[in-house]
Order: sequence, then structure tokens, then C-alpha cells
Amino acid sequence: MIFSYFWTVRARATAGWSLGLLSLLVNQPAWAAFITPTRSSQGMVASAHPLASQAGLEVLKQGGNAADAAVATAFALSVVEPFSAGLGGGGFLLVRWQKTGETKALDFRERAPLQATRNLYLDPAGKVRPGASLDGHLAVGVPGTVAGLSDLHRQSGKLSWAQVIAPAIRYAEQGFVVSDRLAAVITARTALLKNPAARQIFTQNGIPYSAGALLVQTDLAKTLKQIAQAPQSFYTGPIAQAIARDMAQNNGIVSLEDLRRYRPIWREPLCGPFRQAQVCSMPPPSSGGVHLLQILNLIGDADLKSMGWHSPDALQLMASAMQIAYADRATYLGDPAFVKVPVAALISPAYAQLRRPEINLQQARPSNQVKAADPVLLQKLQRSESSDTTHLTVVDPERNVVSLTFTINGPFGAGVVAAGTGILLNNEMDDFAIAPDTPNLYGLVGQDANAIAPGKTPLSSMTPFIVTKQGQFRLAGGSPGGSTIITTSLQLILNVLVYDMDAGAAISAPRLHHQWVPDKLRLERWGFDLMTINELKRRGNPIEEQSDWGNASLIVGTPDGKLEGAADPRGEGTAAGF
Ligand code: GLY
Repeated sequence: MIFSYFWTVRARATAGWSLGLLSLLVNQPAWAAFITPTRSSQGMVASAHPLASQAGLEVLKQGGNAADAAVATAFALSVVEPFSAGLGGGGFLLVRWQKTGETKALDFRERAPLQATRNLYLDPAGKVRPGASLDGHLAVGVPGTVAGLSDLHRQSGKLSWAQVIAPAIRYAEQGFVVSDRLAAVITARTALLKNPAARQIFTQNGIPYSAGALLVQTDLAKTLKQIAQAPQSFYTGPIAQAIARDMAQNNGIVSLEDLRRYRPIWREPLCGPFRQAQVCSMPPPSSGGVHLLQILNLIGDADLKSMGWHSPDALQLMASAMQIAYADRATYLGDPAFVKVPVAALISPAYAQLRRPEINLQQARPSNQVKAADPVLLQKLQRSESSDTTHLTVVDPERNVVSLTFTINGPFGAGVVAAGTGILLNNEMDDFAIAPDTPNLYGLVGQDANAIAPGKTPLSSMTPFIVTKQGQFRLAGGSPGGSTIITTSLQLILNVLVYDMDAGAAISAPRLHHQWVPDKLRLERWGFDLMTINELKRRGNPIEEQSDWGNASLIVGTPDGKLEGAADPRGEGTAAGF
């Protein structure tokens, strides 16, 4: 579940969040039983909400392709999973066209407003102002969702723009039934009560909507209709004006000029080989692809299968590789438009080969002994280069694929809705290193490479991935979960490619996570047997058992040409196929 330790970190950062209510979200371990995947032969959509998966499926059945279905699913998620992602946020996607074999990556992440400064969230004494990068209008980055989805559709969609937005408009206008999960997050996110527009939408006179109630979002339906007519209205038209006005009235700094300037960026995906397969994911300003490939390289040819699934040796290898990758993340990763990120070096097999000897399967190292790469070494290896969140995965009948992760960052973003629009605004500015070595919402630390600057994109961990084998689709997926996104994606890939699990087992399997700082090997509670945990402790691992995390979606191509899909049992999503 996205909430477990990120709420703990958040609670340290700001008082006043209703942590007790989160026990509602910590149920039985979702992976007590592995789920059975959905199977289909034509196409499939897997996402974090059944209505969103249905929206994508509806569009596929109308003859839409993977791009159409991804756009429909994303807009629908913005309505039915409002706390995780939406029009007021941003994200990343990969799209692969089977006919040409081409994979492209789209960055529609939020950008820092032009008025943002390096010390935006510090007081005059240089101390971090608690909660300033998380709650309220000042926490908001310039949203990219509408521009990103519109660009994808304009370039590749088969159906009309109005057709792919239609399901989302329907859900907003006619309402949908509030789930346990949504009700719990509304209750927990008390900042919503301080913002009149958010309070009006998500509570009934200050009482949070409860599970089973019908939630109608009239303003959002109106906004979606405007976008259906003209997506640019979000950036230069009446929606932009409403956002800028709301910002100006509430000490926010996103301006009309920021919105006017916003552009999504098509980027080359990062791809690398692993066990006869080709793994592609997102380049910076996400750290996802770099570290996914780096960890796979560090694992290299190690015979994980013979070691045994979740054996102490296999777990130690994965945890130690994660620790090295996250040490590099903190030092080197940032927006490539502002800092030189040594991507080629970090994902090179040569670099992994140099660092692999540091890994001792019998003895974990404390994180203060694990250093980021030596900059001189990285320079030598750098060949010249050609240069709270949700995930959805779509595969269409032609085996074109979209893997898309988007977010407004924390649950309900900044906790504010731009008055009159129904749009929840993100708190993505917290993904910058707001001060050196100051943990963000997910406990991640960073340095100059990820410092705030006007127009800069905050570093992300989002890791949408697409894996092919001999030119054919093999699997695609991704997850929310802040810092754990990279390691969740890694484990989905390993579970399928190395351990031959089906999509249901791969997504259900208990997870581990190490992010260098804090120096903890996190294990999903109840997912690992006591002997294994004791052995990992004996090897020096500072174990922390936590409630489950992530809310992945995954689609796997099977050898008979069919599809298997699954949505994470830790959440409430579904895979829907035909
Ligand atoms: N907001 C979480 C991430 O982008 O990594």
C-alpha cells in the first residue's frame, strides 16, 4: 500500500495528520494468497481502479489502440482515484509500437514555477519550514497531465479525443461509489478540510464521504468537457485562468506564464539487456530507468533461481544492489536540462562489474560504508550519449503497449483544489531536495543535482517499464510508491523473467526494499519467514518489517501469444481484457 512508511516519514515532517485512521488501510497481508491473473487473447487494461480499467477496455473494444485506451484510463483514474493522480499532476509513459519495434518515452512531469527559488521552503535562518513543500498552494508544481495525454493522443490515437475522455466525464458527472480506500484517504488527509473547494467536493459539511456513498464531481465534469473541446484550455484558456487566479489568491506561485510555457518532452527510453530480454524504462528526470537497469546489471548473471526464491542469498544480493543504486541516486540524479547526469556510465555493465565485488552475500554493509560512484570513474565510463501516484498498463490487439505512471505526489497532492475547476493540485515540489540531505516525503535525500530552480523538473522514481524478448512483447508494468517504485518494478520483472511466475503471482509476491538512506532493509510484514529474517539479521541487515506497499499493475505476454494481467492485491484495481 502506498501509505505505510511514507506516512511515517510524513508524520515526522508535519504534525496533525490523522495517522490513527490509517489503520483502516492496514489490513491482512494482500499476498497471503497469490491472486489468479486475468487471461485474454485480444487486449487488456490493468489499473488501480475497476472503473478505470473498464474505461480503457471500452475504448479498446470501440477499436481504439493502446494510446487511446491509456488516455481513457488515465482520465478515468483522475476521477475515480482522485487522491493518487489527476489533471493537476504529471507523470511519465512508455509507448511501444509492435509493427516498427519502436519504443518512445514521454515526460509530462510537473516543472518548478518560474518564481521558484532554491530556498523556497527554508525560513530566514535556513531551516526547513515543516510541511511547506507538502501542503497548500506553495507546494504545487506546474501540472503536465493534460498536455502529456493530449500529445500522446494527437500523435498516435485512432479514436477521437472526445471519445477517449467520455468515460471520465461520465464518472465525474453521474458519480461513482466511494470505496473503502478512498474513504480512508479522505479521512486521513485532513488538509482537505482547510481548502474550501476541496472540502466541498470530498466532504459533506466537513464529514468525509464514507464508503458506499455516491461521489459526484460537477466542477471536474465541467473542466473535463472543456478539455474535451480544447485541451489547450488547461494552459491558455479559462482553466489556466482559474488556476492562476486561485494561486494568486492563496500565496501560490504557479502563474499564467508557467502554464502557457508548459511542454511535455518526448525522450529516448533507457533500454538494456537482461537474460535474453530487453528492458526499457524512463530516463531522467525520472531516476527509475537508470536504477532499474543499474540494479539488474549488478545482479548480472547471478543464478538467482538456484539460490532459491527469497532465499537469504537472493535477498542479500538484491538488497545490496539496491543500496548501491540509491547511493548514486542521491548524488547524481536530477533534471538533465539542468545537471549533467552520467546516465550511460551508471547503466553500463562495466560500472556494475566494478562495483559488484563490493557485494558480500554473507555480510551486509552499513549505508555509511556504501558510497556514490567516484566522479572520475563515472567520467571514464560515460560514453558519449545520443544524447501518491498510480500506474496503468495497456496492451492492444496488435500488441502495442503503453505503460504509464502518473501522480499528484502525496495523497490528494497539496490538499487543494483550484476553485471552480474540481482539479486537485499536486505537491510535487517536495520531490526536489528542498535542502541538502533533507528527507522528502519518501525519506529520499538529494544534493545539488536535485536542488530547486525555476523551470526545473523534480527528480522522480516513477518506473513504467516495457520488456520484450526477440522483438515480441513479454511484460509491462509499474507501480506507485515513491522511493519503492523502482524496487517494486525490479521485483515484478525478476518474478516473471527469472522465477517464471504468472502475472498474478508476480504481483502478489511479498516485496523488499533498500534505499541506502535510511539504512534499513524493509520487508513486507508477514511476507518472509522467520528463519530467513533471522538469517538476514545475522548477516548485518537492519531489518524493518512494514505494512505492504505499492499498487502495481502488470501485463504479461505468454508463449502462446495470449495475455495475462493483474492489478495489485494491495489495492483495489483490476485487469480487464477481451
Ligand atoms: N512523486 C513520487 C515520484 O515521482 O517519485
